[in-house]
Amino acid sequence: MLTTIIYRSHISDDVPVSILPGMVEKASLLNASHQVTGILLFNGTHFFQILEGPEEGVLDIYNRICQDPRHHNVVELMRDYSPSRRFGNAGMELFDLRTHDRGSVLQAVLDRGTSKYRLTYDDRGLQFLRTFVEAREKENYFEVLPADYWDFVPNDSGALPPASGVIFRPVVDPLGREVTAIEAIPDVAPAELQGDARYTHNLKVIMEALRIAGNACPDGMTLYISILPLTLVSVPGAIGQLLGAIDNAGLVPQQIILGVSETEVISQLDEFTTAVRQLKEAGISLSIDNFGDGSAGLSLLAYVQPDRIRIGGNIVRDIHRSGPKQAVVQAVIRCCSALEINVIAAGIERAEEWMWLEAAGVIDFQGSLFSPEGTAVAWPENREAI
Ligand SMILES: Cc1cc2nc3c(=O)[nH]c(=O)nc-3n(C[C@H](O)[C@H](O)[C@H](O)COP(=O)(O)O)c2cc1C
Repeated sequence: MLTTIIYRSHISDDVPVSILPGMVEKASLLNASHQVTGILLFNGTHFFQILEGPEEGVLDIYNRICQDPRHHNVVELMRDYSPSRRFGNAGMELFDLRTHDRGSVLQAVLDRGTSKYRLTYDDRGLQFLRTFVEAREKENYFEVLPADYWDFVPNDSGALPPASGVIFRPVVDPLGREVTAIEAIPDVAPAELQGDARYTHNLKVIMEALRIAGNACPDGMTLYISILPLTLVSVPGAIGQLLGAIDNAGLVPQQIILGVSETEVISQLDEFTTAVRQLKEAGISLSIDNFGDGSAGLSLLAYVQPDRIRIGGNIVRDIHRSGPKQAVVQAVIRCCSALEINVIAAGIERAEEWMWLEAAGVIDFQGSLFSPEGTAVAWPENREAI
């Protein structure tokens, strides 16, 4: 199967441009032995490469390229299949955009094309190429520092309260070194219940978690707690009972964020929207969790206007390397910004994921990077400053 991978990257600071012809000469030989062809564009700072060939060969070459210290911030823009090669001539050809004048550079690149059909802009691969040549996406190139720039140092300043029956996980603003909320996760074995019994049980568990959190958490701390959305709809008087539990725990509704997972919300949207109205009237905030993992997507924001959304591990994993994930998350961030909805990025495991999201405008984070085992919160410290 003819596979295409397109990526862009940033040349490393200490790499002289003079090494590029030699590098490409070697690359050409290896590509030829893998039946891989393509084109490598360079604009003085960034590379843009199209690799085409049999899937196995393209993946092997791409994996080697990703490990190469001569460039960094490698972002995969496209991985797709096509009926024919766009650039089938050479093992690899280097095209330095700076050696052509602006008006004719795009045509000069396209002239290297070998497709039987005229290269057209219906083709996504060529759209990417044009966007790079015309530098149209440059404002979205977030340059992420190397992961070892930061050390994540557990520190008592953000220590979480100890408690039994509930696991506390912080929501943090890492650069502001602030715990902005604490998520209370009931530490109970999942009950094998069906139908309404499941929701009645869920409400009971949440009320108990509120009781424990009210005793343990610092005064005034925002508490984040996940609830099954249908608990709000199916249990008669659920919101009244929640408000009672909040009051008994010495908390106020304005401190509480209820998180519901998008994957479950949509099934009874009208009833759910009514429940949300009641929550808001009472002062409780709503977060939609796992945003984007369910079937509702952005249109959900038109029906249910939450105060926050939380995007999870699936979409943030390795976001610094994935153009499609970056595009989706940027759309979510832009949309939420227009609606004044705060975005929390959860499931952060790697410094690069956090740095990319921070550059894209996210402030609040959760994940093992900031809360390794134990109660201390790990804050990023510039390694050189330690
Ligand atoms: C921007 C850039 C583009 C590259 N393109 C290719 C390529 O198309 N084919 C290739 O074999 N190596 C390419 N290389 C070099 C590879 O990273 C790697 O050094 C080479 O494949 C040898 O593999 P090895 O280091 O595993 O021996 C490129 C390197 C950079 C920095």
